[in-house]
Amino acid sequence: MCGIIGYIGKKNSIPIIIEGLKNLEYRGYDSSGIAYLKDNKVSIVKEEGKISKLESILPKGISNIAIGHTRWATHGAPNKINAHPHKVGKITLVHNGIIENYQELKKFLMEKGYTFKSDTDTEIVAGIIDYYYALDEDIHVTLSHLKDIVKGSYALAILVDGIDKIYAVKYKSPLIIGITKDGYMLASDIPAILSETNKYIILEDNDICEISDTLNIFNNYKKIKREELEYLDSYDSALKNGYAHYMLKEINEEPFLVDRLVGLLDKEKTINLKKYSNIEIVACGSAYHAGLVGKYLIEKYLNIKTDVYIASEYRYSKMFYNKKTLFISVSQSGETADTIASLNLAKEHGIHTLGIVNTVKSTIARLSDEVLYINAGIECAVATTKAYSLQCLMFAILVNKCLKKKYNLNNISKHMESLLTFDYKKIANKLYKKEDIFFIGRQIDYALTMEASLKIKEISYIHSECYAAGELKHGTISLIEKDTPVISIITDNNILDKTISNLKEVKARGAYVLIVSSINLDKYDDLYDDVIYIDKINDLVEPILAILPLQLLAYNVALLRGCDIDKPRNLAKSVTVE
Ligand code: G6P
Repeated sequence: MCGIIGYIGKKNSIPIIIEGLKNLEYRGYDSSGIAYLKDNKVSIVKEEGKISKLESILPKGISNIAIGHTRWATHGAPNKINAHPHKVGKITLVHNGIIENYQELKKFLMEKGYTFKSDTDTEIVAGIIDYYYALDEDIHVTLSHLKDIVKGSYALAILVDGIDKIYAVKYKSPLIIGITKDGYMLASDIPAILSETNKYIILEDNDICEISDTLNIFNNYKKIKREELEYLDSYDSALKNGYAHYMLKEINEEPFLVDRLVGLLDKEKTINLKKYSNIEIVACGSAYHAGLVGKYLIEKYLNIKTDVYIASEYRYSKMFYNKKTLFISVSQSGETADTIASLNLAKEHGIHTLGIVNTVKSTIARLSDEVLYINAGIECAVATTKAYSLQCLMFAILVNKCLKKKYNLNNISKHMESLLTFDYKKIANKLYKKEDIFFIGRQIDYALTMEASLKIKEISYIHSECYAAGELKHGTISLIEKDTPVISIITDNNILDKTISNLKEVKARGAYVLIVSSINLDKYDDLYDDVIYIDKINDLVEPILAILPLQLLAYNVALLRGCDIDKPRNLAKSVTVE
């Protein structure tokens, strides 16, 4: 989603802003812009498309104060006019979030004589601040009562004509302040500041920041201090490190990260799932798929009823819970709007909450009663890989702890190395020109194929669907014809025969069949066209092995199709709006 960056200090702000914007690209965007202050004048440059386009039209010169933005369109088309920054009267700003009552506010401002150029909700916020600033004559007062006027979510970086400062406010959208050697930055996310500093502060809702050569944070008119944090992994770890794409780099990090997480949690006291009579797991996208893997593991090994919900549905559903319900939210970013809303709902009902999160001190991490970090480091590719695998692993670790470490989770990496070097191009070549791909599996393998299917469709734009293997014949099998690809995961011996029967049904109709399996399938060799074997270890570890080849296959298919792998069209990494 939209990304915000700002710099004020002794250095030239323009290259810092451009570098920061590039490091925010992974959030997803369709246009970008920058506003800088020079000779007491605010200049705005914005452009549709890639940041390199913006960079090429920026005038040379020096400015010590600037704000920048990558926009992911919500209100209004992705074009230059709608790109941020927006300037209304004396106010220039960039915004991440959504203003729900912007139409009402627009009408109000138009009646007061304001006119607007764009279709965005952001321009209206600029108008509102300008209008009240003219009345209040004190920007601090205006920003303090913004929360009473504007409904929705916002992180704003603001320049005010005639004042050599950057102001920032936030409500329900993330914003951090970076502390550099010679100034301050502000940003939506850590990667944007790492070229300058690893020291940062996380702002909380309704904080108001006034940044010049000093940093002042206020909340409810009181000056406050927020804890200074340090990002400990290197700047390079947030970069591509020689890989062609972040996605490829992040998949290759999985073996190391998997072993590291098992080690980190080995002695740590974690939540005892057995204390609960039922568990509700709530998440979006791939995190939802990881939750499904969690459900199968928890129900199979701990016998606790576990339901998994898509957060955008859960928040409007009737809730059934009791005092022994555990609510688990799973989120890489910790900032997904629907997941946060669901978590708040659970809290209102007094349900104990656990967050399985990657981003340290993110909103979900802070709101949850307990938090477990997956320690994936920064994930930049929009399509998640390492975070998903570590979310699945977290469920495996929690279950194994309840089983008094019955299963060995150490050295999983040694079972992953050969999967990284497998020749996926050969299979990708058979798939990349296809229009449809189907995935089937049963039980935990069904959950895994859902993620594999999502990976293919989000980065290669091939239409892909996933079905419970037994369900295909209730309609969808009519779409299977000669050479239609059907991909399956088989790790569960108990239902091997059942999935095999379903694969026979598609093979009989001419499908191309690829199987990822931990079970020897030699006796079915007329059934599949290709097979990728993973080691047979145990149910807790095999999901992490089984998904890896399909992540790499999706990558290779997208590569052959020439897709923008790290930044697939229309997608955002962190979905901070409903
Ligand atoms: C977006 C991302 C997905 C992610 C989902 C949930 O759609 O593109 O990769 O799974 O949001 O995000 P979260 O940060 O809550 O895990």
